[in-house]
Amino acid sequence: MAETKKILVAGGAGFIGSHVAQELEKRGHQVRVFDNFVGGKQNLECFGSGIEVVEGDCCKAKDCRKGVKGCDAVFHLAAHAAEGQSVFIPAFNAETNILGSIRMLSEAINEGISDFVFTSSIATYGKPEKVPIKETAPLNADDPYAITKKAFEDYLRVYHELGQITPYIVRFFNVYGPRQRMDDPYRGVVPIFINKCLKGENPVIFGDGLQKRAFTYISDVVEPICDIVGNKKLVNNPINIGTEEVHTVKELAEMTIEQMGVDLEVEFVSKRTSDVKVTYCDTSKAKELLGYQAKVSMEKGLEKTIVWAKGMGPQEFRYFDYTEIPKLTHGIYTSKKI
Ligand SMILES: NC(=O)c1ccc[n+]([C@@H]2O[C@H](COP(=O)([O-])OP(=O)(O)OC[C@H]3O[C@@H](n4cnc5c(N)ncnc54)[C@H](O)[C@@H]3O)[C@@H](O)[C@H]2O)c1
Repeated sequence: MAETKKILVAGGAGFIGSHVAQELEKRGHQVRVFDNFVGGKQNLECFGSGIEVVEGDCCKAKDCRKGVKGCDAVFHLAAHAAEGQSVFIPAFNAETNILGSIRMLSEAINEGISDFVFTSSIATYGKPEKVPIKETAPLNADDPYAITKKAFEDYLRVYHELGQITPYIVRFFNVYGPRQRMDDPYRGVVPIFINKCLKGENPVIFGDGLQKRAFTYISDVVEPICDIVGNKKLVNNPINIGTEEVHTVKELAEMTIEQMGVDLEVEFVSKRTSDVKVTYCDTSKAKELLGYQAKVSMEKGLEKTIVWAKGMGPQEFRYFDYTEIPKLTHGIYTSKKI
């Protein structure tokens, strides 16, 4: 983005959104954060007076209208992003991630906004036929969260073909780092393990722990997403963004215990219905079209996250009392024993 813009960051009070808002402001843009604060307001403390904050729900057209007013671009990160939880709350998930995203898109179009950045996910690939996954791989989304991300990618394509929007779609992997919620028991295995260690409790793994993931430090997604607008080769052309360093969940748990210097052990419980065993991506397209290179190793990123987390102290996990399909709710959630 060469020229200065007024940018709406929807979901800007969240983990990634708050970092994106700050990076865009640092680059000289005028930034408005839009959020309904279901994930809390704690990240707002990081903003200076240069970032405008608007409370609003992306499921409400009126709120979205207020959010996009006067803006030139939208970074849409607002979502209910708990993949495993989406299996037992599929309607709620679709309301936020599909209908809420459509509302935001419609009001962006009505405001005459062209640039629309969307944070999609590696989850859209489902169980990959081959790893590392290239963007050309089939999108076999096989959980409700993944379906919502895939569906909204399709909405963006359709409105792009109608000449109404210039979409930029990034497919992130497992992002972690400071400001990620530690009190959310449903998602974010890195902050969950750290929080468990802070509480003096054993980290709990679903299944055998041999699930493989490319855990990506926050700064390795924030810069590329802020670089993407204006890159003609990436218009309506989804791109994988994240590290190519891969670890098992068991390795992550062991590294966390070691780095935190606690006398704890990894515990195993039955696997979750929707967990994909091995999933990580090829990022050669990002390297070629964006000059992308992930810079932070797992060891270093974990170290920085632990320093931040120790400053925050242990957090109580906040469980949803709400479920749509109780029999698909993993027992560890109902017993509140994550
Ligand atoms: N964190 C990851 O590993 C990862 C991986 C792939 C994709 N993503 C995507 O990146 C985006 C940001 O993820 P995150 O990890 O920062 O999540 P987050 O939960 O920290 O942030 C999401 C924000 O959206 C807000 N929000 C939720 N529902 C809303 C609504 N109806 N109206 C307005 N605001 C609402 C929440 O309050 C929160 O501040 C999401 O779209 C997520 O699906 C994240």
